[in-house]
Amino acid sequence: MKINILDNDAAIGEAVCKIICDEIKSKPGCVLGLATGASPVPTYKKLVEAYSKGEVSFKDVSTFNLDEYCDLPKDHKNSYFTFMRENLFSKIDIDMNNVGFLDGNANADSESERYAAAIEAKGGIDIQLLGIGRNGHIAFNEPSDSFTDEAWKVTLTQSTIDANSVYFDDVPMPHHAITMGIGSIMRAKKIILIATGASKAQAVRDMINGPVTPQCPASVLQQHKDVTVFLDRAAAALL
Ligand code: F6R
Repeated sequence: MKINILDNDAAIGEAVCKIICDEIKSKPGCVLGLATGASPVPTYKKLVEAYSKGEVSFKDVSTFNLDEYCDLPKDHKNSYFTFMRENLFSKIDIDMNNVGFLDGNANADSESERYAAAIEAKGGIDIQLLGIGRNGHIAFNEPSDSFTDEAWKVTLTQSTIDANSVYFDDVPMPHHAITMGIGSIMRAKKIILIATGASKAQAVRDMINGPVTPQCPASVLQQHKDVTVFLDRAAAALL
């Protein structure tokens, strides 16, 4: 793993934006795996800026998002689809036919097969962007006794509900989601993980220095050959 400790989330956003723009310039039809949540927002801001300045075009880029809540309409203001539309897709020239999203209201088994086939049909994910949960989750693969493979329906843990329920004001936060599995994430050619803030410090330490165990799902990244981690000083405090 390559570890970069930068001053703040704006600097991280700039660095990750540059990696993604370089990938698009060398492979205009590349496939990006995207995350939601606070961690990638500065990166999405920088990508929008780069697009607005004419430095990059997403017209041939395909994307697949990591996860989506169950029991929430796709267009609900708290859905991850809405998050992506507001933070990135509506502000760049991406072809929405090239945007892959898990349907949180579909049958999980058939949705898992559909997503795996769609990713494979595009030639696999070139760059997978990740955040990390306070409990070490990646996507919504929560700590458990085994690593998952393809997309599946997960029951969210209390730690994840506590962290994310602040965003829900009109409906209770769903307790289930469909998430890409650990296997799907590990098949990406390159992985970039962003973590900021003191609340991530223990999970970051377990991911980098702890044993590889499904009790800290992010620790599996130690076994991937091309992972770059971007941290601010607070998230790196226990390294
Ligand atoms: C989001 C996702 C999650 C988040 C993680 C960190 O698509 O898959 O794993 O990356 O919960 O969330 P933030 O960035 O909000 O701290």
